[in-house]
Amino acid sequence: MNERIGTIISINSSPNCDEFYFVIEKDVGRGEFVEVETKKGKIIARITDIVKANPYLENAEIVKNLGENLFNQFPINEWEYLVAKCIPLSLISNGIQERVIFPPSPGDSVYKVDKEFLSKFLGFDENGLNIGKLLFYDLNVKLNITKTFQKHLAILATSGAGKSFLANVLIEELLSKEYSPSIFVIDPHGEYKVFSEDNEFSTKVEVFTKEKISIDTNQLSSFHFSQFLPQLTFVQRRELDKIISSLKQDSKRFDLKQLIEEIKNSSIKDKTKDALLSWLLSLVQFNLFKDFESPSLQSVLEPRKAIILDLSDVINLKEKQIIVSYFLKRIFDLRRLKKIPPTIIFVEEAHQFAPEGKEKEEAISKGIIETIAREGRKFGVSLVLISQRPIKLSTTALSQCNTFVLLRIVNPYDIKHVSESCEGMTKDISNSLPGLNVGEAFITGEAVNYPVLFKVRKKKVKESSLGINLENAVKEFLEEKRKIKEDLEAFK
Ligand SMILES: Nc1ncnc2c1ncn2[C@@H]1O[C@H](COP(=O)(O)OP(=O)(O)OP(=O)(O)O)[C@@H](O)[C@H]1O
Ligand SMILES: [Mg+2]
Repeated sequence: MNERIGTIISINSSPNCDEFYFVIEKDVGRGEFVEVETKKGKIIARITDIVKANPYLENAEIVKNLGENLFNQFPINEWEYLVAKCIPLSLISNGIQERVIFPPSPGDSVYKVDKEFLSKFLGFDENGLNIGKLLFYDLNVKLNITKTFQKHLAILATSGAGKSFLANVLIEELLSKEYSPSIFVIDPHGEYKVFSEDNEFSTKVEVFTKEKISIDTNQLSSFHFSQFLPQLTFVQRRELDKIISSLKQDSKRFDLKQLIEEIKNSSIKDKTKDALLSWLLSLVQFNLFKDFESPSLQSVLEPRKAIILDLSDVINLKEKQIIVSYFLKRIFDLRRLKKIPPTIIFVEEAHQFAPEGKEKEEAISKGIIETIAREGRKFGVSLVLISQRPIKLSTTALSQCNTFVLLRIVNPYDIKHVSESCEGMTKDISNSLPGLNVGEAFITGEAVNYPVLFKVRKKKVKESSLGINLENAVKEFLEEKRKIKEDLEAFK
């Protein structure tokens, strides 16, 4: 028999099928799971709130009149008690999970839930991805790979709450599973290169920095160019199409400069030609459009391997979006043709690449992210959208996510937005979001049977050097300055 922790009371028109309250006898916490034996079977419930009460302190007038004397005259502390509010989640009857259609009774005993039972009840997978421990239990949160990634995952939280840390943990876990999809990471801050410096993971990870990234101009159609250059007119696009088709017919490989040369030498009308050239020349500055693709997706994307696009040296947002747009489109197309393995794409700062609202037209990568969000699962392409501003993230993309991990979120607009987009969100979860500690998270959606609160496990790869200690940085700066001064004085 599990440990008894309290007794159900009759209060606030409860117990009913949606809530019940019990007086706490043992130490329990908000978010914990409890069970109650009823005639219809076992009810499993989650504690959504805990209230402290004291009958001596209920009457404001008496408290005011007696003031401090109250404590001398009555055994007040002995009368304090705790009441837990619970939401029934499921009724287990003859081993089958059903909806709760009959409430427990006042006076029923409330028990802790057994760990092994809870693991099954929540839908954890013994061979799944171990991302942390359930709060209040010594129980690993192990996610089934298929359930988690068959659609898309969103990791949302205020800056510094632990999103990238969790993404690192997910990648570590995926890389250690035998049949794990290939992983493609959009890393705008260069936070994931630590994987390539780690003994355990370095052989399974390849990092591509700006100088190693290139787009194969031969893969582009006039449609792609019109996405990179939304200003292209219909006529300019039509002429570009003709030139590209003729180059492709010759089966000659070409880069952007050669394409430009071809246009210069063509018989397009001067006005159209000049405009087209000036648009295309604006892309030359990025030094991206070559006659080969790097990373070459078909050769680098392998199961159980991660490719990291380190965009930390790419300053221009448009350039970043062009890169993301190109590679995501290629992954989508190649996967449709089954030329690459199923792939999970981690998109850090997802709101930069698929923004909602007025930046919409400018976001070159938004269209493909939304397409993958809508259709990717049919072909085995999943997204992990990571963002600190969920309200600024495309609602189309967000609404296609079926598992959400929510760490601390403090902005009320973000909380509201997330509560509306996220399946399985309850008021107690959204109320808890601002008070979560770093690394604590709720997971809800298809990856788990019920929302749970857990602590993300420690990661194995070392900390990326991004989170600088400000005081140390100032010390380093002063030290550097002192050295320069000394050198100058020695030189005099
Ligand atoms: N589960 C955890 N255990 C221990 N430390 C953690 C955990 N999660 C995050 N941290 C620490 O908190 C700091 C911030 O974490 P992280 O960089 O993952 O935040 P973030 O949500 O990605 O922030 P940003 O939005 O700025 O990218 C890091 O220094 C990290 O070490
Ligand atoms: Mg981060």
